[in-house]
Amino acid sequence: MLFFMSDTVDFGDVLERWYRVDIPRNDLSRLAGRSDAKGLVRLIGHFGILAGFGIAAYLALGTWLMFPAFFLYGTVYCFLNHLMHETHHRTPFKSVWINEVFHWISSFAHGAEPVFDRWAHTQHHTYTYMEEKDPEIVTTSPINRWKVISSYFGFGFFTPLAIFKRALGVVDKEVEEYVPQSDWKKMRWSSWFWLLGYAAIIGSCFYFGTILPLVYTVFARCYGALIPSLLNNTQHIGLEFNVYDHRLCTRDVYINPILSFFYWNMQYHTEHHMYPSIPFHALKKMHRQVKDRLPPVYPSLWAVNREIRETMRRQKTDPHYRVTPQLPQTAEGTGTEEKASDRPPPESERTGSKTDASDSSPTLAETPLPKPQNGWYPACRTNELEENGVLPFKNEGSQYAVYRLADGFYATSGKCTHAGALLSKGLIFDGEIECPAHQGRFSVKDGCATRSPAHSCLEVVPVTVEDEVVWLQLS
Ligand code: FES
Repeated sequence: MLFFMSDTVDFGDVLERWYRVDIPRNDLSRLAGRSDAKGLVRLIGHFGILAGFGIAAYLALGTWLMFPAFFLYGTVYCFLNHLMHETHHRTPFKSVWINEVFHWISSFAHGAEPVFDRWAHTQHHTYTYMEEKDPEIVTTSPINRWKVISSYFGFGFFTPLAIFKRALGVVDKEVEEYVPQSDWKKMRWSSWFWLLGYAAIIGSCFYFGTILPLVYTVFARCYGALIPSLLNNTQHIGLEFNVYDHRLCTRDVYINPILSFFYWNMQYHTEHHMYPSIPFHALKKMHRQVKDRLPPVYPSLWAVNREIRETMRRQKTDPHYRVTPQLPQTAEGTGTEEKASDRPPPESERTGSKTDASDSSPTLAETPLPKPQNGWYPACRTNELEENGVLPFKNEGSQYAVYRLADGFYATSGKCTHAGALLSKGLIFDGEIECPAHQGRFSVKDGCATRSPAHSCLEVVPVTVEDEVVWLQLS
């Protein structure tokens, strides 16, 4: 199925169908805080160890020790995939420029062109583990064992021909499907840089008369892929697919601190999918807060791989067999409730009033609000919104978001212009609302899109406050 991606596509219904455990807004804000220091410590550690193994491998050339040294180097190199993933979301660093520099470097190292790959990953979050829609699916059901095995050798991802075509301006099916037209030029330039980078690697092999530049880059993606791929394959393979509940299609697994370090904490994968705004360093804290509302966590990497092998064995006689994680028997998410995939899109609106779009929204005032007057609509009472808070409001089918900053109240249209997620579920950082779906951002005051994947601006709604009621002027 082909979805043409313009800047104004509305996947809001799809995004709203996904189940998310409730987390109080204040907790969410705290967890979502970005930190250059925490990101840089992890980054320097990752690259420092990579350099150490690289030097050790060089010194061991010609001896048997070079094999384990290169294996370790390649393994740490392949984990740059997970730095790329984190920077796709722009969450590891507070400073955007640090994020973008290392987004490019890690994508290049991984063999991906960063602009295209970030957009494809956006689609993966919108349609996680849905057949024909999720571009990052390795295999659904029955599990394709050759795809799984080839992933251990890093095959199936390096696509220089596609990048070459994109550099020439060819708009292939995937570009059309995932990348908005406004980013085609950027993707084309990025593709040229990518090709030049790899041409430089090959050129240096001829210049220095050695294949070592390739051994340290392109080949490392293959000989180091085993452990990172074993971890990647724990994320979704063998589970339910085509469901709107990350608890059913995504796994959490406990791993040792060394793997966790290089994996950028992606073992808490269900939490990551439910709240992609949370940076890697806060995922463990978030896991502690929500784990009782998730299926049991797999105790080890080997436990997951055993399950995948068993699933493949059972699929020989029952091709439709898949693993259905056991949901906890809690009020919020019960094993006996209807499957999320069966739920209709949520009806989270009350016409002409605030929408009760999230349990984490502030408590609604009990006193009724005044009636609309001359095109002005009462949205909420001032004490219902804390500083840096946001509330949803709906009127005649249109969604709005009402914000409180330190210097007053503001309002904009309520749906993200990228793909229609409700901004009232997002968080405010430095006067900007961050979309909960793919982390696009908008200025609260003037509605301008300040961060991709959002490009088009929000409509700004005039606001006034009278008698402690926040009024919006809606024409
Ligand atoms: S829906 Fe994608 S950034 Fe908002």
